[in-house]
Amino acid sequence: MIIELDKENQTLIEQLEDSFPHYFLKNPINKDFEQNIFTKYFIYQEKSNIIGFVNYYDLYERYEISYIEVKEEYRNQKVGSKMLDYLIEEAKKKNIENITLEVNVQNENAIKLYEKYNFKKVAIREKYYDGVDGYLMERKMM
Ligand SMILES: CC(C)(COP(=O)(O)OP(=O)(O)OC[C@H]1O[C@@H](n2cnc3c(N)ncnc32)[C@H](O)[C@@H]1OP(=O)(O)O)[C@@H](O)C(=O)NCCC(=O)NCCS
Repeated sequence: MIIELDKENQTLIEQLEDSFPHYFLKNPINKDFEQNIFTKYFIYQEKSNIIGFVNYYDLYERYEISYIEVKEEYRNQKVGSKMLDYLIEEAKKKNIENITLEVNVQNENAIKLYEKYNFKKVAIREKYYDGVDGYLMERKMM
């Protein structure tokens, strides 16, 4: 089940941060909500466990995926695909023109997931990830 995170729902925010501490210790959700009016999160829940989430920016006519992760033990079981299905459906409803993201060139699994959803490599971001290049990928919606 996919649930949009509401900034008033502190219980769910804490649960998400506890589920992915390596990420959220550096990127606390409440601080992000305070500093970035465009930021949005949704989670993928299975039997009240959070096993995946997406953070993206809702920027007028476009979306930008900031981060997506699935818990290690649930990877390669289509959870990432279901989350992208959801995001793309939302984008269609809102007449979003394109969705972009940056990904480490060495992150083969993520690149495969994005390519499956018709994201195309449109530029190289040199040394974007601690000296490693990134791809800017774009999924046109129209
Ligand atoms: C990238 C990530 C979110 C993918 O989530 P996922 O739930 O494993 O993805 P899915 O099961 O929906 O797989 C989607 C496609 O990616 C590819 N893929 C994903 N994991 C794979 C693996 N371990 N081996 C081979 N291919 C893989 C496959 O092509 C798959 O499509 P298919 O099942 O139709 O063949 C997950 O690997 C992850 O959390 N990685 C760590 C965090 C990360 O790197 N995030 C991206 C930041 S830009």
